[in-house]
Amino acid sequence: MRTHLCAEIDQSNIDEEVRLCGWSNSYRDHGGVIFIDLRDKSGVVQLVCDPKDNLEAHKLASEVRDEFVLIVSGKVRARGEGLENPKLKTGKIEVALSSLVIENISKTPPITIGDENTSEDLRLKYRYLDLRTQKSYNIFSLRSKASIAARNSLDSMGFLEVETPILTKSTPEGARDYLVPSRVHPGEFFALPQSPQLFKQLLMVGGFDRYFQIAKCFRDEDLRADRQPEFTQIDVEMSFCEQNDVIEVAEKLIFDIFKACNKEISIPFPRMKYEEAMESYGSDKPDMRFDMPLLDVMDLFEDSSNEIFANIANHPKKNRIKALKVEGGDKFFSRKSIKELENFVSKFGAKGLAYIQVKEDGLKGPLLKFLSENSIKELESRANLKEGDIIFFGAGSKSVVLDYMGRLRLEVAKQLDMIDENVLKFLWVVDFPMFEKDDGKIKALHHPFTMPKGLDKDDVEEIESIAYDVVLNGVELGGGSIRIHKEEMQEKIFELLGISKDEANKKFGFLLDALKYGAPPHGGFALGFDRLMMIITKSNSIRDVIAFPKTQRAQCLLADAPSEVGEEQLKDLNIRIRQLAQS
Ligand code: AMO
Repeated sequence: MRTHLCAEIDQSNIDEEVRLCGWSNSYRDHGGVIFIDLRDKSGVVQLVCDPKDNLEAHKLASEVRDEFVLIVSGKVRARGEGLENPKLKTGKIEVALSSLVIENISKTPPITIGDENTSEDLRLKYRYLDLRTQKSYNIFSLRSKASIAARNSLDSMGFLEVETPILTKSTPEGARDYLVPSRVHPGEFFALPQSPQLFKQLLMVGGFDRYFQIAKCFRDEDLRADRQPEFTQIDVEMSFCEQNDVIEVAEKLIFDIFKACNKEISIPFPRMKYEEAMESYGSDKPDMRFDMPLLDVMDLFEDSSNEIFANIANHPKKNRIKALKVEGGDKFFSRKSIKELENFVSKFGAKGLAYIQVKEDGLKGPLLKFLSENSIKELESRANLKEGDIIFFGAGSKSVVLDYMGRLRLEVAKQLDMIDENVLKFLWVVDFPMFEKDDGKIKALHHPFTMPKGLDKDDVEEIESIAYDVVLNGVELGGGSIRIHKEEMQEKIFELLGISKDEANKKFGFLLDALKYGAPPHGGFALGFDRLMMIITKSNSIRDVIAFPKTQRAQCLLADAPSEVGEEQLKDLNIRIRQLAQS
């Protein structure tokens, strides 16, 4: 239908007859001469229609409104002196219309296309209009390049792309399942996979050696800016490998994806033990675009005259006292902004936010009187305190203090503009603990098929696993582990987790069975593809990089899903809806 895309035309086409297709992006009538910006996926070009040149085309052009679909022909010419638009790729030329067909009309669009101030709900309801922007096209064009690069990269490393079931059984990633009722088996349900975890392990038992899949995963969990109920993973598993082999594959894959998106990154990525990430950055996904680590100052409070601090300091296993030194922070933070920081950390469990300021005439702050002279000296040297600095303190139970001091580190860096948005800082966090305590119950930190480093510890919380996460700019991009491939070890782990044989068999019996038939050593990882694209395209929300995303309330406003279904369909499925209590 066309000879060119709109934004492909330039001065080299002057005097050529072209035929173009697209949408009218804008329409202006300047004293009888009509200007239309015609838009397609490549961009816009200006069409001009003078009644003196072509009365019939002009009559039709006067009927054109926003978002009409047009097929036009005309001659390319240079724009007049002073009429060029340097902001536009096609800003030096225009197309003088010789014919125009209104291929389709459009109702007045309910959103202003490209206007990011339009409510997101409305943009999601009319997502197909929202997608017409150049910005969206560019995002999805990069996403397409990235997924093709991922396939090529993994193919070149000998990985086989295999699809795994969507209608399946609950998988072990720890979120709630989306369930699908079975009509054929009344009262029974499929679960949508939270990841292909168990099936990819079975493919290793099946001897495929190297598997990958660009896989849809489904998790019914509380949504955040970087979470969707339905998201995509680049999922990988390999046999006869150790942690370093898996990490090498992941790094090459990430390198190739970034290269396809015109970004050169360097591999290998640095590695950090989980324990150091938590102790020095208060997070298992530290943002390394700036340093400013947390300092351990617990020992300085052991002989504190303040009973509360001394008491905290004398229980080093369950407590922490951490300090965050902000260079030059004393000038930056007023009393009011310190109060705001205190309110900020209190949302995450802090009982207060003590601080010491370094003034011209020495250290200032109520905390000083609780520290011995020696401790103050040690603090000065440990934190390398200089005039103009401020140092914040967090004291209390380990997990709470690490969490809010880590968040404080990020918040302070944001306020002080310490984060360079143009850098990419990758990090492997390795040696995760195998277990964590949640409400006093032992849980697997990754999943129960992760290989422990050894079980010879009295305290199960000290057992490490061969699990690793890849972090980019403070975002958990992916994670994986070496898996358990021997039945006895798997049974031991279930035992430690308090999962009975019966329960394990009911949930994952098919995997446990497979371990009885010569399962090879294996491991793998999965990258969150949407999160990756969010960072590559510098998008603020994961929704921007998904063609048809769900809202924060897990709805698709476009298709109006989820929605009620008819009585007949429910009957077929043997499902009765209980009357929900009116709220
Ligand atoms: P995990 O649960 O860590 O591991 O998931 C891997 C990566 O998937 C992304 N991700 C999400 N992205 C968007 N929305 C969500 N709701 C969401 N949840 C997770 C993250 C995360 O790092 N089977 C294991 C992998 C393995 O061990 O091989 C797994 O799924 O970027």
